[in-house]
Amino acid sequence: MKIKRFAIGNIVLFQGDALAVLEKLQTNSLGAVITDPPYASSGSSSLTKAQPPSQKYQGLDVINKHPEFQGESRDQRSFAYWSSLWVSQCYRVVKTGSPICVFSDWRQLGVTTDYLQSGGFTFNGIVPWDKTESVRPAKGKFRAQAEYIAWGFKGKCYGDRHPVYLKGALRERVNPKEKLHMTGKPVAVMDHLVKVVPPGETILDPFMGSGSTGVAAIKSGHPFIGIEASEEYFEIAKKRLRAAYRDSLRENAQ
Ligand SMILES: C[S@@+](CC[C@H](N)C(=O)[O-])C[C@H]1O[C@@H](n2cnc3c(N)ncnc32)[C@H](O)[C@@H]1O
Repeated sequence: MKIKRFAIGNIVLFQGDALAVLEKLQTNSLGAVITDPPYASSGSSSLTKAQPPSQKYQGLDVINKHPEFQGESRDQRSFAYWSSLWVSQCYRVVKTGSPICVFSDWRQLGVTTDYLQSGGFTFNGIVPWDKTESVRPAKGKFRAQAEYIAWGFKGKCYGDRHPVYLKGALRERVNPKEKLHMTGKPVAVMDHLVKVVPPGETILDPFMGSGSTGVAAIKSGHPFIGIEASEEYFEIAKKRLRAAYRDSLRENAQ
């Protein structure tokens, strides 16, 4: 896959495979990883795994239909192996002390905390994200109302340099009108996560989708590097982050 690059100010976006792009980034150069990789979670047989993401994540009643995305069909063992590969690359490119925050659902939470550590990071905890009662109830079952952010550091955390005290659980509904990706995360959730990153440090999202991490990075004044395999989502992120960057320039000028 050919790698495309787009830059505006201190924002650099790549369209290509995350592993191929990560390999080209400089060792010990960035300040944080905040990312929401494909979960490859739904479906317990090879047949259901192979279904397009829309059949797993998008009900027939959904208001906005979104383009399909990549990386959802791996079985459990290849998902764990592949995840260790990209996390190891993230570990190499960030400086000692950098935080990592990785989204997961309940099914993949165990493997997520494993691959975060097999990639080299020190696992520090889980931030539960409560998506509120806006999630559809399930008859006879508990609502699948939460996702999780596994987090840690490369070595010792930046605490002395960046003494923030952050909430350890989030409650935020997904607003379908704001969502530009089938499994897009609210910018309000990302706004909270980027607070762990000291000013001036570059945030890397190797699975940026529609660019929600990038919007939060721009709002908080951090340089950002985003990678996305899908051409459609890359174009969506590019447009969204260009607009966010221009808004930030206007606000700073006032
Ligand atoms: C869960 S989505 C991220 C959604 C994002 N947080 C948002 O709010 O829009 C994961 C993204 O990773 C992309 N992806 C999957 N495999 C990839 C790979 N090998 N390299 C780069 N991107 C990949 C998918 O196309 C998908 O858009």
